[in-house]
Amino acid sequence: MKNKILLLILLFGGTVLLGAVDKAAGEVIFTQHGCTMCHAKDVDTIGPSIRTISLRYSGDENGLVAYLKGQGKPIVYPEREGMMRPQLLRIANLYEDEHRSLARYIIQAFMRIDF
Ligand code: HEC
Repeated sequence: MKNKILLLILLFGGTVLLGAVDKAAGEVIFTQHGCTMCHAKDVDTIGPSIRTISLRYSGDENGLVAYLKGQGKPIVYPEREGMMRPQLLRIANLYEDEHRSLARYIIQAFMRIDF
């Protein structure tokens, strides 16, 4: 019984830890691809802030992954889509899990106190 509980704790801890690693990877990709030029963390500038995007896509990680892969429609500020579309081309050849890391980083942003 004790062993089972320990196993559960380990599994749960591992999942939380993996989630954290994934978000960190997403942040690196976001920075390396120049997304920060137009997307600040908290205030809308040229593009919507990460917080604004995260609120719109909250609970729809798959939707954001699809959008980042160029397979979705913009829902935040569609009228400014023209500026964002070329950016999607620049990340079109990332791996699937990199698109997912990006999506996780963006969506989970507003849940973090250290953000
Ligand atoms: C030249 C400025 C610029 C850069 C660089 C830029 N974006 Fe954007 N982005 C925008 C603008 C403007 C919008 C608002 C238009 C829209 O919502 O489609 C936007 C919107 C978005 C959205 C919301 C899409 C939606 O559903 O409306 C996401 C997600 C996003 N950007 C991710 C990124 C990522 C990831 C990068 C880096 C690869 C990036 N952006 C780089 C200007 C930029």
